[in-house]
Amino acid sequence: MYSEKVMDHFAHPRNVGEIPDADGVGQVGNPTCGDIMRIYLRVKDDRIEDIKFKTFGCGAAIATSSMLTELVKGKTLDEALAVSNRTVAEALGGLPPVKMHCSNLAADALHAAIMDYRGKQVSK
Ligand code: FES
Repeated sequence: MYSEKVMDHFAHPRNVGEIPDADGVGQVGNPTCGDIMRIYLRVKDDRIEDIKFKTFGCGAAIATSSMLTELVKGKTLDEALAVSNRTVAEALGGLPPVKMHCSNLAADALHAAIMDYRGKQVSK
């Protein structure tokens, strides 16, 4: 039911944890299942220098977050904003349709973290 890539990222998730004094933090809840995702960003020269995530989500949420962090590390904020849940699901070789909602968590939390960072820059 899950691709090998999904199983790999679920079993060995990349970039799990927190960034102390992160430049941006985004937290979202999944309206479908109630699970929660938090993403921490370290930003330098408008690029994502480091990214970590923590989730109270299912295996698909863990795998999509792990893949997302690999996809956007080193990207500019605008490039990272263009990464959608579908981009992540495709990079993982697809997700079962019933699990597509889980992939929203990572993309939405990333977008929220970028907005948090940008909001802090404006108020500086
Ligand atoms: Fe909640 Fe997958 S069931 S994130």
